[in-house]
Amino acid sequence: MVAAFLKTTSAQSSVVDLVVNDPQLSILETLVVNTPGLAGTLNALDDITVFAPTNEAFLETLPVGLSQEQVAAVLQYHVVTTGAFAASDVSDGLTLPTALEGESLVFTVNVTGVFINEGMAQVVATDFEATNGIIHKVNGVLLPSFIAEEFLPSMPSMAPLPTPAPTTEGPGNIVEVAVGLDGFSTLVDLVVLAELDDVLASLPRATVLAPTDDAFAALDPSLVAALTSPPYKLHLQEILLYHSFETILRGPNLLNSRSVRSRGGVYITTLSTNQDRVQFKTPDGASLNINNGFADVVVADVAASNGVIHAIDQVLLPSFASKSVTTVIQEDVYDLRTLKTLLDQAALLGVLAGQGPFTVFAPIDEAFDGIVAPDDVDALTDILTYHVVPGMYPSFLIEDGLELTTVKGTNITFSVTEM
Ligand SMILES: *[C@@H]1O[C@H](CO)[C@@H](O)[C@H](O)[C@H]1NC(C)=O
Ligand SMILES: *[C@@H]1O[C@H](CO)[C@@H](O)[C@H](O)[C@H]1NC(C)=O
Repeated sequence: MVAAFLKTTSAQSSVVDLVVNDPQLSILETLVVNTPGLAGTLNALDDITVFAPTNEAFLETLPVGLSQEQVAAVLQYHVVTTGAFAASDVSDGLTLPTALEGESLVFTVNVTGVFINEGMAQVVATDFEATNGIIHKVNGVLLPSFIAEEFLPSMPSMAPLPTPAPTTEGPGNIVEVAVGLDGFSTLVDLVVLAELDDVLASLPRATVLAPTDDAFAALDPSLVAALTSPPYKLHLQEILLYHSFETILRGPNLLNSRSVRSRGGVYITTLSTNQDRVQFKTPDGASLNINNGFADVVVADVAASNGVIHAIDQVLLPSFASKSVTTVIQEDVYDLRTLKTLLDQAALLGVLAGQGPFTVFAPIDEAFDGIVAPDDVDALTDILTYHVVPGMYPSFLIEDGLELTTVKGTNITFSVTEM
């Protein structure tokens, strides 16, 4: 489903954009961005094929202790510059030169699948098309021969990750495991209240950072009260999904991964719909911490059939949780300056900072072109409150014909046209 979605939209995105927008490739993104000049070089090339190791591939198979130059060489070794090769173009024995001079990739195609360099990596997802090439995901990091010689003997295992198969034995799914743990009943209650239990249980791969009951008890009680009230269900979902990842991040491997040990740590995209990410870091051999030391992992690697749970000692709050509607309008210095001034004149900024929830249909500065706002505060208030609806209406809830009653008391109607 993800692949089909990318296929229909890919023509607009470069190879680098596809990597940036794919939560399974966030470690690759971090490494590309931290390698000077590499993103620019990739964007300047046409018709390339990138074999992109997933986050799990990096965490499991990237040797520890590579220099910056060696990382750059490893990344170049995943790029074929002689064409955009679709999965159907790859045949047994095919050898392709890479962007790393003198180093090629050798393909094996057999009944088990498509492998590179005698099983160093297996191709696990294919044909993500970009404007300037194509990406295939692989489950291991490919090492050019001169780096493999140096690092492979000391590596305990370079076998590709087994493809996870659902089992009937072993631990239950991630929700069942959380239910069975001691000290996480608040989290479990909130997940059920937000109706996310089925979502998390059915993800093929998941990591959940599970705040302890003590972590929830330390939250501002008024925040908890708001989040557990029906009007704020969407925010509760967003906050819980901010603790969840569509990829398996295991503690010991996180600890050993070079990108996590580096000063910046690694940023991983969460399942929440906003762009916030969570940072994992292990400064100087200390234990794994989250968001620059905001939270510590107190129990790592509780296995579930579809992923892993790490207990943490704080509830993570995405940036929106501390911002009222007023703050968001005030912080927007590009498009909402006129609206901010008018809301201020009508003394409505305080109202929008108060008890909500509110949905604001915010006219941008350009929308006020040629319009003279009334000086009369009542007339101005009428106009402004006609743009505010009580309740929370994200764009996915707005459908053709929807009619909503504004704070002014009159209705607005939506029509949705296919783009
Ligand atoms: C297919 O090739 C891979 C990589 O060389 C190898 O590990 C695997 O055992 C092969 N599968 C079969 C069925 O030969
Ligand atoms: C305004 O919209 C609400 C909600 O859809 C509806 O119940 C109400 O009848 C509408 N009022 C008018 C005057 O159309």
